[in-house]
Amino acid sequence: MTQSSFPVSAEFVAAANTTPAQYIKDYQRSIASPKANDDFWAERAELIDWIKKPTVISNVNYDLDDFRIKWFEDGELNISVNCIDRHLKDNPYKPAIIWEGDHPSLHKTLSFTELHAEVCRLGNAMRKLGVSKGDRVTLYMPMIPEAMIAMLACARIGAVHSVVFGGFSAESLGNRIIDSQSKLVITADEGVRSNKHTPLKANVDRALDMDGTQCVEKVIVVHRTGNSIPMSGRRDVWYHSVVAGESAECEPEVMNAEDPLFLLYTSGSTGKPKGVLHTTGGYITYALSTFRDAFDIKDDDVYWCSADIGWITGHTYSTYAPLANGTTTVMFEGAPDYPTWARVGHIIDKHKVSVVYTAPTAIRSMMKEGDAFVRESDRSSLRLLATVGEPINPEAWDWYYEVVGGGKCPIVDTWWQTETGGILIAPIPGTVALKPSCAMTPLYGIMPEIVDSDGEVLEGLAEGNLVIRGGWPGQMRTIYKDHERFLQTYFTEYPGYYFTGDGAQRDEDGHYWITGRVDDVLNVAGHRLGTAELESAIDSHPATVEAAVVGMPHEIRGVGIAAFVILKSGETKDEQIKEELNRHVRREIGPIANLDAIYIVDGLPKTRSGKIMRRILRSLAAGQYVGLGDLSTLADSSVINKIIEVLRAED
Ligand code: WT7
Repeated sequence: MTQSSFPVSAEFVAAANTTPAQYIKDYQRSIASPKANDDFWAERAELIDWIKKPTVISNVNYDLDDFRIKWFEDGELNISVNCIDRHLKDNPYKPAIIWEGDHPSLHKTLSFTELHAEVCRLGNAMRKLGVSKGDRVTLYMPMIPEAMIAMLACARIGAVHSVVFGGFSAESLGNRIIDSQSKLVITADEGVRSNKHTPLKANVDRALDMDGTQCVEKVIVVHRTGNSIPMSGRRDVWYHSVVAGESAECEPEVMNAEDPLFLLYTSGSTGKPKGVLHTTGGYITYALSTFRDAFDIKDDDVYWCSADIGWITGHTYSTYAPLANGTTTVMFEGAPDYPTWARVGHIIDKHKVSVVYTAPTAIRSMMKEGDAFVRESDRSSLRLLATVGEPINPEAWDWYYEVVGGGKCPIVDTWWQTETGGILIAPIPGTVALKPSCAMTPLYGIMPEIVDSDGEVLEGLAEGNLVIRGGWPGQMRTIYKDHERFLQTYFTEYPGYYFTGDGAQRDEDGHYWITGRVDDVLNVAGHRLGTAELESAIDSHPATVEAAVVGMPHEIRGVGIAAFVILKSGETKDEQIKEELNRHVRREIGPIANLDAIYIVDGLPKTRSGKIMRRILRSLAAGQYVGLGDLSTLADSSVINKIIEVLRAED
């Protein structure tokens, strides 16, 4: 914990939506009692256009005998109406989406009126293809407006979308289609990033060859690059053909507040990825309300969140929250290095972006290329910068603050998770001096606690596991088709609390510092990968016997992936097998699962009961060979020295 703090500029504070005193007063009021908490959320629900206004606010109980999570349970609404239709009266021509293509010559703006027409056409087309309320639709899309249009069209007709990140493999896509039993897949011929093409449709074809995907009746394909792709006569239809001739009006489905909105698969510490389920009324109330609070949003903001729509940030803070608020959202198809590392600055200037929300990994990769690229732009439109996904190290914070923001923009470090639906901890800008690397203060209605390993709640200055007392409208409702796993993962270890899986420290000012995952989940470049998934991908290669995966420090991605692998006897321990293993894992999971270090070893440190002691491997992968802690439970302590020999040979 560094002691330095950066007061927000007087100019920003003067124009901020919230004052320091107001934050303290409103926060205290929002958590004063269950009744006060309900009153607070009832007020925030006023920001939503309901078809039927809810009379019940929360119905949350973490008691496993009588477990329930419901918000606004008798309310009715449609999210696409909240994101689009309700802005048509006052702001019909305001840009809803500004799309910036991979190549700097490509850009497109959709006003709320245009977005409305597009969403309605696709909604109608999907209905004609037989999709109705409750059906699942998998989206495997590049960062093009059709991706947001498809999400909103699903919301309009009550279909449950499951967006699968375009960087995942055919295999990962197939598994998610099987789990969700999707009726429809929406994709594009190819994705384009840094002038490189990704064969999205070809991956869909391979995924749909997998057993269990017979549920898919149709595949809608957006024409993005026009390169030739096979289209199967009965199953595949072009996006432009199905929407052509459809009406620009589409009756929105009336949704109960607790009807599902989407599934989003994320990695856990064990087993296969889990389908995190979010519902309608609570999710949109929380998304909209936290968006206003955390980013100090004004009507004329041009807001750019760089997250891919395949992640929760791309759902909540690229799509639903800004649009529900009537804020212009910028969507960028490409990468920060194309055509040069000056691209981010050029996009800010070109579209007069005022708020930027991105990940520390992206900041570190730009920082490494030097300041000159950023200084090609003037960035005078910027007023606020934000980060998400992993702790931001002080060097990257300083660089973001001084070089990108020119020392005038507060940096909002937002902590949250796929499961939480929206931000839980972040400084409300203008209300508190900022500490680099610190997520700071809880948002309204949120009650973080730090517990020790026995579940004892720690007061004041503390370090331990981060749990949340009580519920909030944006929280996940279940793991799709696996409610048992949901209860087991989040509500069993620390009874009565939601367990985040993160460690945290609370400093003398009551501010929260996230120290990282305390489970077997790696946070690589702000994306989650389970060690179990990575290990089973390595194990599935015919040359391997067993593998153990741990995180290791990585200069750009924060956390890198280190694999300790035992090969079958007779296999050659050379560079070639390592490359082959890496290719294999990338093919199984996707290019994000890149093994940064592979160590071929003869044995793994295991307890007598056969459990891999990852703690030891983590220290070794970080180059720490002494002070490995208690080794008395190891079945065979001689493996440690042998692994150290392998590591030394690699240095
Ligand atoms: C995990 C959730 C929430 C959208 C992006 C990631 C880590 C997230 C921060 C932050 C330190 C952070 C946590 C969390 N994390 N934000 N500001 N500071 N760590 O969503 O894939 O669900 O991952 O990301 O470890 O548990 P996700």
